[in-house]
Amino acid sequence: MGRLEDRVAIITGAGQGIGLAYAERFLQEGAKVVVAEINEERAASAMRHLDGTGDVEFVRTDISDEQSALDCAAATKQHFGKIDILINNAALYYDIDNERNDYDYLRTVFSVNLHGAWLMARACSPHMVEQHRGRIVNQSSGAAYLYNMVPQSDFHEVAAFSYSQTKWGVVGLTKLLAGQLGQYGITVNCIAPGVTMTEATKKIVPDSVIDMLPMMSAMKRKLDAWDLTGTALFFASDDAELVTGQVLCVDGGSVMPA
Ligand SMILES: NC(=O)c1ccc[n+]([C@@H]2O[C@H](COP(=O)([O-])OP(=O)(O)OC[C@H]3O[C@@H](n4cnc5c(N)ncnc54)[C@H](O)[C@@H]3O)[C@@H](O)[C@H]2O)c1
Repeated sequence: MGRLEDRVAIITGAGQGIGLAYAERFLQEGAKVVVAEINEERAASAMRHLDGTGDVEFVRTDISDEQSALDCAAATKQHFGKIDILINNAALYYDIDNERNDYDYLRTVFSVNLHGAWLMARACSPHMVEQHRGRIVNQSSGAAYLYNMVPQSDFHEVAAFSYSQTKWGVVGLTKLLAGQLGQYGITVNCIAPGVTMTEATKKIVPDSVIDMLPMMSAMKRKLDAWDLTGTALFFASDDAELVTGQVLCVDGGSVMPA
């Protein structure tokens, strides 16, 4: 018997990387899973990977679009009859343009990485309130806590900090949602992964930095997407019934907030 037997979970951005690992682990634990993904090619490949491992559906979703978030929740309800778990994993990470420092682009990153999580929480929570039970797990990042990871050069203008700003926002959103939704039996928690060896990281993080990662962690090793799945499973499970508003850094001991 799995730890998520008969639970219905929406996992955003499950087309690849960490979201796909979450989907795989949740299916192993008996959950029914909706892959809520904007990129149809990635989703198709994820669905092939997950084929035969359990009850899984793809719902094309743009989390930054209000109607699309509502449609995803409605489609899940229609197909599986309920929504127990929302994993807010999707973000601009592989697809982020770190060269852009302008306000328009900052707003774009906010619309996905932070407001997308809020839109999905808003779309799914009424269904959770109805059954007086729910789990929301948001995905922040160790990047939220690394204040000195900004260009060290002659001053030109204030950096956009787009990725870090939004991931710090996700920490705050977690606590605000937890405060409101606890009375309805819904917990809201957050995972802040360290640098994880996904395709996105291999594309974005220079090899020289990747090589140094083990040295920068207490456990002296690199992190794979699968290493994060146990924490997501815990937050989504009955074991975490009274755990809410918490952020867990899963990074082998790199960032250790008080
Ligand atoms: N990989 C890491 O080192 C690392 C570290 C800390 C936090 N994170 C966070 O973990 C999550 C997953 O990381 P990853 O490495 O798998 O990243 P990734 O970029 O490979 O995966 C993100 C997925 O989200 C999807 N997506 C993007 N915009 C979307 C939208 N508007 N609607 C729906 N889906 C959308 C993408 O198509 C992609 O499949 C992200 O939130 C990322 O910020 C990653």
